[in-house]
Amino acid sequence: MQTNSRRTFLGLCLGGLAAAATALTAYPIFNYLAPRKQTSGEGTVSFPESDIPPGGAKFFDFRGSTGVVIKKTNGELVALSAVCTHLGCIVQWENVKQDFLCPCHGGRYTPEGIVISGPPPRPLPKLPFHVANGTITVG
Ligand code: FES
Repeated sequence: MQTNSRRTFLGLCLGGLAAAATALTAYPIFNYLAPRKQTSGEGTVSFPESDIPPGGAKFFDFRGSTGVVIKKTNGELVALSAVCTHLGCIVQWENVKQDFLCPCHGGRYTPEGIVISGPPPRPLPKLPFHVANGTITVG
């Protein structure tokens, strides 16, 4: 009788450990794969246009997310959300190639945010901006 209760106790302990291990493993995976929260918010972000060299990019926090302004080599400015439309990773600007690379699954976007290759289903959303007196204001 005592052997049975010991087995039952050990079985419960192992079951509990297995459940805890599953939860500890599954949570980060779910968190990684889940789309980023879209937080709505108000506000603008301003910075000097001189912060961005020709062909370069500036990333910034924007309404609870990440935005980016790039200055193309011809001087044209483009403001986009930097959140990949696949699973929400933050894209990186590649100066040499003059395009965006998503480090998570290799999605690529043009400087205008149009998908070149990879799994992203949609372009990067454009952000409204204006330039006055050498200052870029996004939002
Ligand atoms: S999250 Fe960007 S390609 Fe998958």
